[in-house]
Amino acid sequence: MKAIRGATTVENDTTEEIKESVKELLTEIKRRNTLKSENIICIMFSNTADIRSYYPAKAAREAGFFNCALYSSLEPDIEGSLKKCIRVMVLAETEGKIEHVYLKGAANLRKDITKKLNIAVDGPAGSGKSTVAKLIAKRFNILHLDTGAMYRAVALACMKAKVDCTDSKKVKKLLQNTKITVKFENGTQHTILNGENVSDLIRTPEISMLASTVSAHESVRTKMVEAQREIAADNSCILDGRDIGSNVLPNAEFKFYLTALSEVRAERRAKENEQKGLFQPISEVLCEIKQRDNQDKSRKIAPLVKASDAVEVDTSNMTIDEVVEFISKSIQEKI
Ligand code: DC
Repeated sequence: MKAIRGATTVENDTTEEIKESVKELLTEIKRRNTLKSENIICIMFSNTADIRSYYPAKAAREAGFFNCALYSSLEPDIEGSLKKCIRVMVLAETEGKIEHVYLKGAANLRKDITKKLNIAVDGPAGSGKSTVAKLIAKRFNILHLDTGAMYRAVALACMKAKVDCTDSKKVKKLLQNTKITVKFENGTQHTILNGENVSDLIRTPEISMLASTVSAHESVRTKMVEAQREIAADNSCILDGRDIGSNVLPNAEFKFYLTALSEVRAERRAKENEQKGLFQPISEVLCEIKQRDNQDKSRKIAPLVKASDAVEVDTSNMTIDEVVEFISKSIQEKI
C-alpha cells in the first residue's frame, strides 16, 4: 500500500468550486499514478479553516469515489500558511513509484516531493506576456520574473550616467560598477538598481526604446541571463521575455510564444500608458512598437524568436482571461 499526497486551492469558498477542485485533484492523482477506483482504499482530506461551504469528502463522494473510506478534517488557522487550501492523502494499493500531485495555488507547496516547474513565455511588446505571466504565477503559486525589467534597469543606469546605449564599450564599463537585482514581496517583483527601487521609473516609453537598444550588447545579455538562470534554478517560476524559451531556459518544460497584431498591441500599450497618465497618440505608440520589434528580432545575440518547441498563442482576439485559461490548461494537462 502507498500513501499519495496532494493539495489544491480554491479562489472562492463556494460549493461549486470546492466540488470542481476536489474532482480535478483526485482525477489527476488517479491519472498520474494509473490508479483504478478499486485500488483506492481511503482518502483523507484536511482543509484550511477559511473553507466553510462544503466538505471535500462529500465532494469526493459526489465525484464518484464511493468505494473507499472518505474522511474530512479541519486544519487549525495557522498564520502565514497557504489560504483556501485542500490537502489530501490517498491510500492506494499500487506497485512502483508514486507521484504526489500539487495543483493551482498549492503547486509550489512541497518542493521537496514534487518537480520544479519552469515556464517560459516570450513574445513582442504588448502581446500580453507580462500580464498573463503574473496571473499564471498567482494561479500556480510560483514566482514571476519579468526579465524585461532587468534590461530596462540597465537602460536607466545608462541614462543616469549619460552613457550612450549604442556604445557597447562604454555600456560594458558601466555595467562593471552597476548592480541590478530583483526581489519578490508577496509575488510582486521589485527591480533594484544600485540599491534603489526603480520598478516605476523604468516604465516609460523612453526607457522601453533604450532597453531594446542596450539589450543587444553581449556584456549586458551575459550578465542578465546569468542572473535569470540563477533564479530559475532555485525556484518554480515563470519567466517572460524575448529569449527565455530559445536561450535562457532551453530545457523549460513549458514554453509559450505570445503574438498579436501590431495594431492591437499598440492599442493595448496606449491604454496602459493612459492609465498611468501618459497620453501618446496610437500612431506614435505603433511606430515605437514596430521599431522595437525590428530591433529585438534583428539583433545578433539571442534575438526575439519563437523556440521550435514553444506553443504559439495569437492573443489578438483573446481576452487576458482566455489566454490565462488556455495556458493553465496546457500546463495542467502535462504537469
Ligand atoms: O518586455 P519589455 O518590454 O519590458 O522589454 C524591454 C526590452 O528589453 C525589450 O524591447 C528587449 C529587451 N529584452 C530582451 O532583450 N530580452 C528579454 N528576455 C527581455 C527583454
